[in-house]
Amino acid sequence: MSDTTLIRGGTVVTADRQWRADVLIAGQKVAAVAESLQAPVGARVIEAGGAFVMPGGIDPHTHMELPFMGTVSKDDFFTGTAAAAAGGTTMIIDFVIPGPEQSLLEALDIWNGRAAKAAADYSFHMAITGWSDRTHTEMAEVTRRGINSFKHFMAYKGAIMVDDSVLVKSFIRVRDLGGICLVHAENGELVAHFQNEIFARGITGPEGHPLSRPAEVEGEASNRALRIAEVIGVPLYVVHTSCSDALDPIARARGEGQCAFGEALIQHLIISEEVYRNEDWDQAAHYVMSPPFRPREHQAALWHGIQSGAIQVIGTDHCVFDTAQKRAGRGDFRKIPNGTGGIEDRMSVLWHHGVGSGRITPSEFVALTSSNAARIYNCYPRKGTIAVGSDADIVVWDPAATRIISARTHHQNGDFNVFEGMTVTGNAAVTLSRGAVLWQDGKLHATAGWGKYVPRPAFADFTQSLAVRNKLAQPTAVKRA
Ligand code: URP
Ligand code: ZN
Ligand code: ZN
Repeated sequence: MSDTTLIRGGTVVTADRQWRADVLIAGQKVAAVAESLQAPVGARVIEAGGAFVMPGGIDPHTHMELPFMGTVSKDDFFTGTAAAAAGGTTMIIDFVIPGPEQSLLEALDIWNGRAAKAAADYSFHMAITGWSDRTHTEMAEVTRRGINSFKHFMAYKGAIMVDDSVLVKSFIRVRDLGGICLVHAENGELVAHFQNEIFARGITGPEGHPLSRPAEVEGEASNRALRIAEVIGVPLYVVHTSCSDALDPIARARGEGQCAFGEALIQHLIISEEVYRNEDWDQAAHYVMSPPFRPREHQAALWHGIQSGAIQVIGTDHCVFDTAQKRAGRGDFRKIPNGTGGIEDRMSVLWHHGVGSGRITPSEFVALTSSNAARIYNCYPRKGTIAVGSDADIVVWDPAATRIISARTHHQNGDFNVFEGMTVTGNAAVTLSRGAVLWQDGKLHATAGWGKYVPRPAFADFTQSLAVRNKLAQPTAVKRA
């Protein structure tokens, strides 16, 4: 078989338009996008009549094989990226999280080793979990190695949480390196306080988890991080925004011209807090993640955030723990490993509830699942679009295909699926990663090691525009005689 593929008869959808076109792939790149292309001799032909041909999804928030809360998340870079491909996602950005006493570069070496088995392309964010001169120095080398995004956990006290002093130092450093800051926005001091108070009251089950992390706690941290980023003059991306309390400050910041971005998780758009009141402990514990699932009115706010542009990206925070791992917190909800999965179902759940219900258009779907992440994290147009010269990361999307989501049939490495039993219409028919078919006719063709690292350089344009936008970062002295 030659390394040429023609995707014929479909409707190409990018973030800005949709039109009838064939897509020719030569090697690993898109070679032509036009009506009625001829298949070169020996080319593989994928018939896409009735289907949408879209950029493969980018999930910019995953935790594969993450050591966390005394255990390790179940999906590794192979199983996680293979499951991603089954759902139409062709690239992930995973978080390098240095352990205690580990430097940034030591942790990056470990993540490089883990990711070598990826079946689809990957990139990394770097977490700043403490501060020293070495951290400051290594951030420059991390940036040179293609990581322009630095994450800060404002919660998980006593583990990976950082305080305002670290936020300020790190945000300044990221600004000077031309990068972007990310925050897990929850006030970790308040969470720790409420966790202990609720536990002391005798609430020990999973229902204690959301009680200890009310929306106000997320709103405070989101607003604080945004204000710190504003005065320092660095772009800020707020991950897994789950409630209006955290969303409103993002919308305000954007409205005032700040370079700020919001991410929501597909799980938070669909699932609400009653899951924690399930009388079956295991069933309730499966949903323990942070921020927790919220009362329904927050879902409506998140959808409005998507429609108004305050939310640009839908991710998953894919971090799977199975039932046995969750049981570490029997008798003490504070010890239930935090995390849920979603990488395989993100695209179809968003299509079904977003495009299928008329809330968003197919182009907005592409922007939310792929193009915006590629732009924000600086790998566009190599990723995130279908254009001549782009990587041939493509999903042929069947808008009429229906399936029922279940742990019995999913490819994620966990015994539970937070969308269990949900019927979705709109699914990946074929997924190609740099021209290679990873998923077709309901079968995975994933190969460990096919996935390649995607370096993402620092961006000059953000920092330049911020220097103009941000009055406070440009102080001037009063000239006196
Ligand atoms: O509960 C979650 N979200 N677990 C993964 C780590 C994080 O906070 O992103
Ligand atoms: Zn988080
Ligand atoms: Zn996360």
